[in-house]
Amino acid sequence: MKNFNQKVAAITGAGSGIGQQLAILLAQQGTHLALSDVNEQGLVETRSLIAQYPVNATFTQLDVSNQEAIRAWAADSFTHHGKINLIFNNAGVALASTVEGMNYEEMEWIFNINFWGVVYGTKEFLPYLKQSGEGHVINISSLFGLTAQPTQSAYNATKFAVRGFTEALRQELDIQNNGVSATCVHPGGIRTNIANNARMSDSIRALGMNPARASRSFNKVLKTPPSDAAKIILDAVRKNKARILIGTDAKILDVVQRITPTHYSQALNFLTKKSQKNGK
Ligand SMILES: NC(=O)c1ccc[n+]([C@@H]2O[C@H](COP(=O)([O-])OP(=O)(O)OC[C@H]3O[C@@H](n4cnc5c(N)ncnc54)[C@H](O)[C@@H]3O)[C@@H](O)[C@H]2O)c1
Repeated sequence: MKNFNQKVAAITGAGSGIGQQLAILLAQQGTHLALSDVNEQGLVETRSLIAQYPVNATFTQLDVSNQEAIRAWAADSFTHHGKINLIFNNAGVALASTVEGMNYEEMEWIFNINFWGVVYGTKEFLPYLKQSGEGHVINISSLFGLTAQPTQSAYNATKFAVRGFTEALRQELDIQNNGVSATCVHPGGIRTNIANNARMSDSIRALGMNPARASRSFNKVLKTPPSDAAKIILDAVRKNKARILIGTDAKILDVVQRITPTHYSQALNFLTKKSQKNGK
């Protein structure tokens, strides 16, 4: 997709962080918007941030783990806007827990949002993207969809799953050559609300971590502004890239995990300690 002017984009998790910045950047480029989030207050904020741009925007409060809600949102958006060209499956949550200390409810919670939310968003919007003649699916994985880390087993599993799902989808769409494509996005640390909203389990004490301080440490490694992330994502869609890495941290670790797939955790520890020492 060479430009976004007069296209229609749907974004999940549009009330904060990367999703909100995508909405602003697209509105600036004349893209009409179907925005959703579970957090109504976030949507109100996004509405005011894009109000100055002459685009048609709809706002829907929904939970991406609810398939019926996504199905209805996709249908309503298509009816309202007359077409849908882009779906950004962006909504996501984080959880820090050991495998041993994690209960099944926590795992189901994060899988329902980070993985099933992406699956529902992809499958329910795909027919409308095809019907619209020109379409793109953008699924947000993570640096943690390429490398694993202690306390992140569930998050890692959801983001590795998003990567596999999206890479297979991309190949199917390439074979069909039907005007629709897909990009898998792997951000490193982006300065958003993800750490503030994360669930921190007491079980991480077993690894010498303090759950009360974990979100502060987590925040310290979130460097890239979400507006930069949004620009990089839209540029990748314009160039029809299959995969995009965001941030120096993601780029370095991607290389390291290819060179040493079983020892990359040492490089990750080094980078984390260095950035915490710098106090950034
Ligand atoms: N911030 C980072 O460092 C980082 C790194 C890699 C990947 N990511 C991914 O980027 C995506 C966007 O996250 P962000 O960093 O902008 O965080 P954020 O917390 O600022 O925004 C996430 C948005 O998703 C919404 N959301 C959460 N659960 C939802 C649900 N069940 N249904 C609908 N909406 C829901 C939240 O209300 C919020 O508005 C996520 O998928 C996240 O995993 C973020």
